[in-house]
Amino acid sequence: MARSAGVSIGYLSERTGLAVSAIRYYETQGLVEPWRNAGGQRRFERADLRRLSFVMIAQKFGFSLPEIQSFLKGLPGGRTPTKADWAQLSAQFREHLDARIATLERMRDNLDGCIGCGCLSLPNCKLYNPDDEAAQKGQGPRYLMGDAPDRSADDGNRASNDEN
Ligand code: FES
Repeated sequence: MARSAGVSIGYLSERTGLAVSAIRYYETQGLVEPWRNAGGQRRFERADLRRLSFVMIAQKFGFSLPEIQSFLKGLPGGRTPTKADWAQLSAQFREHLDARIATLERMRDNLDGCIGCGCLSLPNCKLYNPDDEAAQKGQGPRYLMGDAPDRSADDGNRASNDEN
């Protein structure tokens, strides 16, 4: 199948609002794969507009470029992605997005309480994270990351703390 004439990097820049240098950077990261025409100019598939727009959106949601790259790996190389290809990527992205939203909601709701980070600096850390038990679950603010405080701790104290 003959390749389309493609679009220029300037066109992509104008349509996406991305700087030409940003698109070149994304190229070095394998997020878009232009080819060279007979005159040696970079040419992109028109569908790369959507691909770059996806990159911008995913970055706004806080995904790293390697994460975004792994999402885009699901799209076919060498041909324009179909609606079904995008639907598959969208389902995968939604799963990750839901997990991220759940983390953000926990963060929003619990940031003023003990987050299981090991600092033990708040009065209620003694109840939720006695002796830094959260450290056994791994690194980081475990209760924001989805781990629950152990139920073996004094539930009575915890309940009375919740009422305060
Ligand atoms: S807030 Fe850090 S251990 Fe409780």
